[in-house]
Amino acid sequence: MGTFHCPIGAASRGTTGCVDCGLCSAATKAERIAAADRMREYIRATAGTRAGVIKKIAVCGKGGVGKSTFSALLAASTVSLGYRTLVIDTDESNPSMHRRLGIGKEPEPLLSILERFSDEAAPIEAAWLDRDEIRFEDIPERLVVSRDKLSLMCSGKIDDPLIGCACTMSDLTRNLMVNYVPDEKELVITDLEAGVESFGRGMEQGVDTIIMIIEPTLDSLMVAAKVQYMSEGLGIRRIRGILNKIPDKATEKQMRALLKEHNIRYLGTMPLSSEISLSALTGAMIPEGEAYQNVKNLACLMFDEAEMDYDL
Ligand SMILES: Nc1ncnc2c1ncn2[C@@H]1O[C@H](COP(=O)(O)OP(=O)(O)OP(=O)(O)O)[C@@H](O)[C@H]1O
Ligand SMILES: [Mg+2]
Repeated sequence: MGTFHCPIGAASRGTTGCVDCGLCSAATKAERIAAADRMREYIRATAGTRAGVIKKIAVCGKGGVGKSTFSALLAASTVSLGYRTLVIDTDESNPSMHRRLGIGKEPEPLLSILERFSDEAAPIEAAWLDRDEIRFEDIPERLVVSRDKLSLMCSGKIDDPLIGCACTMSDLTRNLMVNYVPDEKELVITDLEAGVESFGRGMEQGVDTIIMIIEPTLDSLMVAAKVQYMSEGLGIRRIRGILNKIPDKATEKQMRALLKEHNIRYLGTMPLSSEISLSALTGAMIPEGEAYQNVKNLACLMFDEAEMDYDL
């Protein structure tokens, strides 16, 4: 059996916060299922206060559907709507989020607070990550790069063939996502890794809003349906689908019918855009053109919905 990764991070904190679910000692499949049920019950019971306000958004979906593109556009548009926005890039491979945000350099990764990944000559303080309530000011400066009210953190990149698995990064990121407390008019947008693995690690527990990016393929739709199922299992109630790379009205219509069939609540559409492809080619920030304006409208719709009774 491989290394155990506690989905609520208690094991890595010397059992502080342990909810006695028994997952770490489960030896059989039946015991693991029973433990996962206890864990889900705990998570759902403590998730009740998340409805209403949008503070922490996770952007999910199948690989390559446009999660990072949407996250970058959403971050820029929420800043223009008056928010201070912190983007957490959890992708272990792609190196371009800072460019998509128009930020000159990458931050030092969260992973570097651990002794074995740190710069020995100038280690970064780590105790802040164990606080029950983490504020923006608590995060060591070297882990954040900013442009005005837009800030970026990243979990870490796998850039050495023997660095080990990505679980350590996920554990640290989960702690941050769960314990981070945004101020009023502050938002956290987490650009998640592709697929549903992050759910297995409990990364989304602190999140109040899940945005699923869905391109016009059946696989992408099936991943979204699974993301929705898992998000509901964590007690997250605001879950929305965004159709991306839509070439024409007929495809949009067909996709919307499929969303309905899978009970996925539709937020909006991002058309297939040459503006976006061109920016990807040059590595430049997406300009404040049509795609940006469209995402800004979707953001407004999402915030408006959140203030209404029919939000959830
Ligand atoms: N609406 C769009 N129109 C045209 N191209 C798009 C659109 N959205 C995304 N793309 C392109 O699709 C590719 C994948 O996008 P992106 O990197 O945002 O996906 P991702 O879901 O973050 O991928 P990964 O799973 O690797 O993290 C990029 O080349 C991007 O420019
Ligand atoms: Mg990405």
